[in-house]
Amino acid sequence: MARRKTKFICQECGYESPKWMGKCPGCGEWNKMVEEVEPAGIGRRRAFAHSVGSSSVPSKATPITSIETASEPRIQTDLNELNRVLGNGIVKGSLVLIGGDPGIGKSTLLLQVSSQLAAKNYQVLYVSGEESLRQTKLRADRLGVSSENLLVYSETNLEEISRTIENVSPSFVIVDSIQTVFHPEVTSAPGSVSQVRECTAELMRIAKTKGIAVFIVGHVTKEGSIAGPRLLEHMVDTVLYFEGERHHTYRILRAVKNRFGSTNEMGIFEMKEFGLEEVENPSEIFLEERSHGAAGSTVVASMEGTRPVLVEIQALISPSSFGIPRRMATGVDHNRVPLLMAVLEKRVGMLLQNQDAYLKVAGGIKLDEPAIDLAIAVSIASSFRDKPTRPTDCIIGEVGLTGEVRRVSRIEQRVQEAAKLGFERVILPQNNLGGWKGPKGIELVGVSSVSQALQVTLGG
Ligand code: TYD
Ligand code: MG
Repeated sequence: MARRKTKFICQECGYESPKWMGKCPGCGEWNKMVEEVEPAGIGRRRAFAHSVGSSSVPSKATPITSIETASEPRIQTDLNELNRVLGNGIVKGSLVLIGGDPGIGKSTLLLQVSSQLAAKNYQVLYVSGEESLRQTKLRADRLGVSSENLLVYSETNLEEISRTIENVSPSFVIVDSIQTVFHPEVTSAPGSVSQVRECTAELMRIAKTKGIAVFIVGHVTKEGSIAGPRLLEHMVDTVLYFEGERHHTYRILRAVKNRFGSTNEMGIFEMKEFGLEEVENPSEIFLEERSHGAAGSTVVASMEGTRPVLVEIQALISPSSFGIPRRMATGVDHNRVPLLMAVLEKRVGMLLQNQDAYLKVAGGIKLDEPAIDLAIAVSIASSFRDKPTRPTDCIIGEVGLTGEVRRVSRIEQRVQEAAKLGFERVILPQNNLGGWKGPKGIELVGVSSVSQALQVTLGG
């Protein structure tokens, strides 16, 4: 029997060490080293598998002027939301990772996409290590999927999977999920860092050498990362996260890495009885349950990639009963709330230090651009004064530490979206205005400071 070596691998960056360490010397993270056992003599092969990750065809140095710039051939699915997140369709020979909580709808999405591609006469191989063929068939029946070109395969041994890909030579391969497949030459358990790394490297090789687009599903762990997380993200071309609250039917697909497109885009879907449906006008759904005329609620036009989305921001400010007031935020960076409260305190003279503050972006969406600052500040002030803003106001602007309101990008698109959804007035940075009148039927009010914005929206 081969002698077995024990070693420790960092789940974060893949740093290997013969002994356990509390802090990984590779990335500096604490408590990420896990023990793994493997037989002696596999190290070299692994190093090879890695180097092959990017390309296995011998390449030579080429003058940049003689490189063809014909754009990557892309294949469109019927889901525009998905196409956009991928950067306008699926690139041949790319490896895409779709991560998300169990039960969020990853298998549903990929089975739907598989069926659409099969209907366009592409050969698709759906490898399921999680469900039996029967279970997959039941799901397919529910989704109304049936095509000769869609091959379903229940297997977890990667060597078998490679062989089948060789025989079938499909255009698309889906591996559901990376945590269930194993490479027989790696002895650690499926789902371990070595297995995930080895299997991904092999799938990358298949994708690049055969020009097959490969999708792999990765479940997210309790800590919110895919097993062997960063590691996996570094290896693949594109990383998409499928997120949403279990109790809401809306699902958001977001790119966190994309070698073939922008990472700002998001796609919105709704989980229905018969599968996922695209949501073409997200602003409508985010404003659907808004309570008009409630203090603490404002609406902002935020850019999600190239698309403006109107979202409600809610604040609740109430006197604190403990020594240290609480500051809580969901859907925005939690450091933003104390910062904007400090600005309100210092520049507007609002006494907030003994108040608890809760902030929430309605609809379970996450916003991370500075243009939402002013809406947050107005929401906080509105709740503190217990005075509602006009329900037909939309508030846009970045707030600086001196209380000034700063210019934001793509103002025309934001204002147009607000006009389209029937808003009557947009409060925006004065610097963005510059003589611009905006679309018909909507009033634009330029402001240059937070106190001016409060004056306009809440009165004196
Ligand atoms: P699934 O795709 O199995 O999730 P994942 O692969 O990410 O673990 O989705 C499972 C959930 O979706 C399950 O709670 C049932 C629900 N669902 C629907 O609501 N409608 C449908 O048509 C399908 C297929 C699933
Ligand atoms: Mg699944």
